[in-house]
Formats: sequence, C-alpha cells, structure tokens
Amino acid sequence: MEYKNIVLKIEDNIALLTVNRPKALNALNSEVLSELECALYEIENNDDVKCVIITGDGEKAFVAGADIKEMLGMDAIAAAEFAKKGHSIIRFIRKMKKPVIAAVNGYALGGGFELALACDIIYASENAKLGFPEVTLGIMPGFGGTQNLVRICGEKIANELIFTGQMISAVRAKEINVVCEVLKDKESLMDRAFETAKKIASNSPKGVAFAKSAILTGVNMNLSEALDYESTLFGLLFNTEDQKEGMSAFVEKRKAKFKGK
Ligand code: HXC
Repeated sequence: MEYKNIVLKIEDNIALLTVNRPKALNALNSEVLSELECALYEIENNDDVKCVIITGDGEKAFVAGADIKEMLGMDAIAAAEFAKKGHSIIRFIRKMKKPVIAAVNGYALGGGFELALACDIIYASENAKLGFPEVTLGIMPGFGGTQNLVRICGEKIANELIFTGQMISAVRAKEINVVCEVLKDKESLMDRAFETAKKIASNSPKGVAFAKSAILTGVNMNLSEALDYESTLFGLLFNTEDQKEGMSAFVEKRKAKFKGK
C-alpha cells in the first residue's frame, strides 16, 4: 500500500516505520492513524519481519501529539471515535507477535507519548521531551496514557505528569522506568534501536512472541493465574521446530537457525 504520512522500510527482518509529517511535528491526524494501522497490520502479517522500530522524521519530534487543529472542530462523538482509533493502534501493538521499539527523537507529547508507551521497548535521544500537555488544552490523555503510564510508573508519578502537563527530559524518563536507555543524538539512537532489533530478530520468533504475551497478559492476572499461563505457553513451545533447533544447536555447539515454526 502507498502511504502519504508514514514511510515503511523493511530490510534484514526489521521494519522501520517513520511518521513523516514534519511540518506538523509528526502530529497524528485521522489519516496518519489509519496509515499507521494499515502499516502495522502489513508488518504483523509479513513473516520476513521479526522486529519493528517506530520513529519520527527529523530530529525535532517523534510525534508532538494528536492533531490539535483536527480535534478543535470535533464534537463529543467524533472525539470519542478519534480516541478509539488511537486505542485500536495501541491495542494492536500490544497484541502483535513482533516486538515494537520506539526510538524517541525530540518531542513525544500527548498521543505521541502514548504511542511510545504502547511500544515494548523505548530508547530516547538526549533532546527528547516527553509529557502529557492535554490538561493545558482543556482535555486529558485519550490514547491510553492514563492507563499505560500508571502501570509503568505507578500512580503518584502518573498523577504528577498528567495533572501538571509538564514535559520531562529523557534522563528523567529513564529514572521513572519509561525509557530503557538515553542516547546522545539521533544517529546513536537509531544505531541502538537497530542493534536491539537485530538481536531480537536472531532469536526464536515463537519464543519472543510467547514471552511478550506472557508478560503483557500476565501483568493483568493474579500471580497464580499468570504462572499457569506462563507454564502453558512454555509447554506449547515444545511443539515447535524452533525449540528442537535451539536446543540441538546448543548441544551441537553451533548457531541456531530459527524458522519461526
Ligand atoms: C497540530 C501541531 C502539533 C499538534 C505542533 N504542531 N504540534 N499541529 N497538532 N499536536 C504544528 C504547529 O502548529 C506548527 O505548525 C508546527 O507544528 C511547528 O510547531 P511550533 O509550535 O511552531 O514549534 P515550536 O515552537 O518549536 O514548539 C514545539 C512544541 C509545540 C512545544 C512541540 O508545537 C507544541 O506545544 N505542540 C503541541 C503539543 C501538544 O499539546 N500535544 C498534545 C496534543 S493533545 P504551523 O502551521 O503553525 O507552523 C493529544 C491528545 C491525544 O495528543 C489523545 C487524543 C484522543
């Protein structure tokens, strides 16, 4: 499919998805959201892709939020539909078999921060600024931010960030467990994201996908149910060719060649 506001590049088992609307600091309007949804669906159904990186075009912004100019004219029903469109992407990323890495360059605000929070791993460059300015606009986070931030940082930090609308630095975002690592510039940010993506792509796709499901599904269960879920998935992996290949390769002292089967 042809995209107008995003660029999708697939190479060496890694999909690089770039939000490309620099004149609006990559803000998410309905068209960008539809294209993101299509691209993620395309990626999930492409067996060649083992890992995904999402970033924003240029150095100034990852995504500066949902499009305020589009939201200005919305009535309550349109606004709720718009929020649901965002939720559908956030949910899809969480359910994808393939890990998604956010490479946050510059501003990640509102819906942009929410997009990053939905990803499995977040790296940020030193110039990144993250936050939820929604309350300064008379609204509140609506692409899952109130739910995801509290699960990652806990209630007090989520309250502080969402109620004040303040932006935080990449270093502060790392302190509160939002960001895995802070890189000095866009180039080292992308190098780091690709390094991790390559490591993930060399592992068993089934092992990675089941581990992602155990982590994300299990966190919403009580510990006993979550451990049952983990043991079920662990057992299912023994029906895969990847498990035979991975363990045989170890015994035969060679590198495993996984097929994702
Ligand atoms: C629409 C946006 C935008 C946005 C920036 N632009 N952010 N357009 N929606 N979220 C546009 C500006 O209007 C401007 O276009 C161009 O991008 C450059 O932005 P400037 O403001 O001139 O840049 P700068 O002075 O460097 O300031 C950068 C900034 C500021 C601090 C990031 O742009 C800003 O505060 N943006 C809004 C951030 C925000 O509030 N995000 C949350 C949105 S609500 P023109 O045409 O004027 O040159 C949200 C809700 C999610 O995300 C949930 C929905 C359900």
